[in-house]
Order: sequence, then C-alpha cells, then structure tokens
Amino acid sequence: MVANSWQQTPAGYHIVGEGMHARAEITDFWAMVFNPSSVERLTHVWIGAFLAGAFLVISVNAYYILKKKHLEIAKPAFKIALVVATFFSLAQLFTGSKSADGVAKNQPAKLAAMEGHYDSSAAADMFLVGWVNNKTQTTNGIKIPGGLSFLIHQDIKAPVTGLNAFKKEDRPSQVNTVFQMYHLMIAIGMALIALTLYSCWQWKKGKLFEKRWLLIVLAWSVLLPQLANQAGWFTAEMGRQPWVVYGLLRTSDALSRSVAANQVVFSLILFTLVYTTLFVLFIYLMNKKIKHGPVYDAPQELIEEGSKRDNPLLDHK
Ligand code: HEM
Repeated sequence: MVANSWQQTPAGYHIVGEGMHARAEITDFWAMVFNPSSVERLTHVWIGAFLAGAFLVISVNAYYILKKKHLEIAKPAFKIALVVATFFSLAQLFTGSKSADGVAKNQPAKLAAMEGHYDSSAAADMFLVGWVNNKTQTTNGIKIPGGLSFLIHQDIKAPVTGLNAFKKEDRPSQVNTVFQMYHLMIAIGMALIALTLYSCWQWKKGKLFEKRWLLIVLAWSVLLPQLANQAGWFTAEMGRQPWVVYGLLRTSDALSRSVAANQVVFSLILFTLVYTTLFVLFIYLMNKKIKHGPVYDAPQELIEEGSKRDNPLLDHK
C-alpha cells in the first residue's frame, strides 16, 4: 500500500544519477511512508476489504435464511454483519471524498479524467452517469452542474483544472475508462449505503427476514464490494497513466532492458493460469463449505440457549 501510494504521490526521496541510470533514494523514511496519499488510500482500501467481508457474511446467511437452514446461527450472524456493513458503507463515502480531495490536490489530471473535465476555464460538473468522447473532448450524461467545482472550491462556478491544462503526453489516454470505473465505484458505494440503511429500517420494523426480494438482493450483494474494489483500483492506476511514478517516471520508460517482451507475455500467461486455478479452487471450496453449513462442536440446545442469553441482538425475529 505504501509502495503504491508512493508511486502516486512520491515523497521523502532524492534522485541519484542521470538518464537511464537515475534512481530514487530514500532521504526521509517517514515522509516516504506517510506520503500525501498513503493514509487516505490505506483507510479507503481497508474499509473496502471490511465491506467485502461483511457482504460475504450477509450473502451466505441471506442464502441460509431463504433456504430456512441453520437459522439459529444465520439470523444473528446476518444482523452482526449488517451492523458492520452499514457502518463501513457510510464510512467509505467519507474516506472516498477525502481521497477525491487528495487527488484534486496531488493529481489534478487524474481528477479531470475521473469527471471527464477538459476546459480549465470552466466550472466542473459532477456526473451521475455519462460517456466521455476523448476525440471531441466532450462528456455527456446526467449531471449536477458545477458539482465538482462545489466539492473542491465550495463554489459551483469556480473553474477546475481540466485535461487541456496538460500536454497530451502527460495525461491519461483512456479517459472514458477512468470515468466509467470511477462512476461504477461510486454508484456501488451509494447502492451499498441505500441497501444497508433500508435493511436496518426493516430490522427496526421487525420485518428484516420477511421480505424475500430483499434477501435475494442481499444474497447477490456479495458481488458489489468486489466490483467496487476492482473499479477503484482501475481508477487509481489508469488515472495515474502515463506515469509509473507520478510526474517522475513514465510507464514507457519503466521497461526493463534485460527482460524481453516474450518473457513478459509468458509470465503473464503463467500468472493468469495460476490465479485462475486458485480462483476456481477458492469458489469450489467456498461453495462446498457454504452448502455444508456451520460445524457445531457443542450440542445444538447449548448453542441456542447460549446465543439467546449472551446477545440481545439475537431475538430470532
Ligand atoms: C462511496 C463513494 C466513494 C468515493 C467518493 C470513492 C472515491 C475514490 C477515489 C477518489 C479513489 C481514487 C484514489 C486515488 O487514485 O488516489 C478511489 C479509489 C478506490 N476505491 Fe473508492 N470511493 C467510493 C466508494 C468505494 C467503495 C464502495 C469501494 C469498495 C468497496 C471502494 C474501493 C476503492 C479502491 C480499492 C480504490 C483504489 C485505491 C488504490 O489502489 O489506490 N471505493 N475511491
């Protein structure tokens, strides 16, 4: 995480040597560790991981509840995961907007790509959905006019640095992909907030487990944080292009002369094969465990009695 943040916002280094032999050396260890984006990136990614875990627990237990299986464990586990998911869904909006502030300050070309904003003399809109045409340098869609200007400058008319402020070779080329990935992440973030708050409201009304459609949606919701994490990652990395280290080292200059192109292709194919095998194995084993259900190492009556006594959440409504 620190290394990745350093690539986005390098700090605590100096350059030794010149040309192809130039390299960055650490001059201040803590400035490097706490570079301008590391804390906000770490919290945002951490919460993304908590959301992935909480929604997995919600999903598995929604499935059990739908199948009317293992209810004495499924209902309380579902409720605990819902509390965690609600808290972190809201927290993710907060850390996400902190990250966006940081990007506005440290990587303005990335921010401009995230909202498809080209003209530096104009106020910047905030799109809910849209499409960027990088050739005509236009972005169309449903938007809040001046929304990005307001977020950054608290003024809907304030101009925001656009992509045209950067030379063509210094800005991301895949603007529409960055835009789409960013908006997918945010749409999912909002959907997670809506879903968890609605579920909490149903819980308060004592109807949490009565709405079949809600349980079905929650069973599938496991996919949402996974998608948002990938979309966020694409936003951060594709938005950083054309740099490997922002403002310092271009991706095109970062190739290693001692590794040939076919070696790179070969290792990519191998990695893809290994990770695909691990993924298939993971899904197979996870599915087997879920179908099997919880392993009880105490008599059933004891578990039910203990869970009712120890936890007020476990009212089995
Ligand atoms: C709710 C609204 C959200 C906002 C405003 C937001 C904002 C942002 C921003 C601005 C970035 C780019 C950071 C950078 O390049 O330095 C980012 C990256 C990211 N986001 Fe979000 N985000 C939101 C929701 C989510 C959700 C729900 C998840 C996952 C469950 C998520 C996971 C990520 C990840 C994994 C990254 C990549 C971090 C990295 O590798 O640098 N975000 N987000």
